[in-house]
Amino acid sequence: MYDMSDTQPVDDWATDYDIFDADYITDPTAVWGELRERCPIAHTERRQSSFLPTRYEDVQALAKMVPELSSADPLVVPLPEAVRNDPVFQEYGANSPPITSDPPDHTWTRRLLLPHFSPKVIDAHRDFTERRCNDLIDRFIDDGEGDAAGDYAQQIPAAVIANLLGVDETRVDEFTFWVRNVLEFGLSEPELRVKYRDVIRDFFRAEVADRQENPRDDLISHLLAATDPDGNPIKPETVVGMCNLQLVAGIDTTWSSIGSALWHLATHPDDRHRLAAEPDLMPTALEEFLRFYSPVTMARVLTEEVEYNGVKMCPGDKVIMNFPGANHDPEAFEEPERFIIDRARNRHIAFGSGIHRCAGSNLARLEMDVAISTWMERIPEFEIIDPEDVTWAGGQVRGPRRVRVRF
Ligand code: HEM
Repeated sequence: MYDMSDTQPVDDWATDYDIFDADYITDPTAVWGELRERCPIAHTERRQSSFLPTRYEDVQALAKMVPELSSADPLVVPLPEAVRNDPVFQEYGANSPPITSDPPDHTWTRRLLLPHFSPKVIDAHRDFTERRCNDLIDRFIDDGEGDAAGDYAQQIPAAVIANLLGVDETRVDEFTFWVRNVLEFGLSEPELRVKYRDVIRDFFRAEVADRQENPRDDLISHLLAATDPDGNPIKPETVVGMCNLQLVAGIDTTWSSIGSALWHLATHPDDRHRLAAEPDLMPTALEEFLRFYSPVTMARVLTEEVEYNGVKMCPGDKVIMNFPGANHDPEAFEEPERFIIDRARNRHIAFGSGIHRCAGSNLARLEMDVAISTWMERIPEFEIIDPEDVTWAGGQVRGPRRVRVRF
């Protein structure tokens, strides 16, 4: 049906775009700029028929077109056959509610999660996050160099999510490895994606079974004790899906944001010096990191024919929710290609738009704030050792994967 090894160079971005193109992953902004002028909703038949909106207004409008644009299959690559044929998929669908659900299931599964992500609840994770960041820096600060992505950014979110879910924090390297195999390497290798999806689910099936026997004060136990709108207990497999989402939604995303921010500061001395001298700039800097380096791209699948702005989309087509591209639209942001550390007006949609807007945004902001502030306090001066050695991942979640710096 599709070939992820498809490395045909792009001839025309309007009619045959490729979000896995290596140059696009490194810097997609020029492509978005060209498309916004020439063909604001691009199309491709690569892998499967899909559309790429590039304007802020269009991405927002399409994100709100529910249920014609469904979240049943929100990854940017086609669903592997092995998943379609899986009995759990046939009964529960992609089952990572609420991100894979449409209303009405989306409404109640999201409502169950939100109280656990309120600013007050999330703030209780601040001390833990600070300790984690300091411990990580202790491991390499005396070496005078380290990998800001691999040794630091990558090591933070998995530990925080484990703490939040109440699962074994010593297994964070495994969690990160599993999630990368689903969201990063698994995008081009469906067998990996299916294998590690099952590994994560089996892990949570055991955790859920354990909480059924021994409930405690953690998110998994609270979800198991909750009921659906008909007053029935939530099915354990649904709780497994919701936990799976916490891991998958909370790790690569936040790590990519922290990594991009540190990469930016390493390569932009003016912003680095300003942030070190004026730490009160962090709130606007953080939003600008989110806008400029928005890590998350999602997808929707058409359930019926839709014509939008003269573009006809058919059932089964995908629409790429290009939140990163929207955040660089000059119609919505003044000088969008300039990183403005104290940008006052910044209505970015890095956390999405519409009913699926990120439920974990308070946690993501807290982790970014603590991670970047702690780094800047302890390592205010740092630079990239070798720009050629920096690697970026893209597709579903964009961010640097290796950023070796000296200080
Ligand atoms: C910088 C880090 C993050 C970014 C940029 C981000 C971005 C996003 C985006 C764009 C969506 C919308 C998905 C869609 O429209 O289909 C989303 C949804 C979601 N995110 Fe995040 N996210 C981040 C971190 C987190 C964290 C730490 C968690 C919590 C563990 C989390 C939990 C969720 C959940 C549960 C949803 C689904 C909401 C729904 O479907 O109603 N995210 N996120």
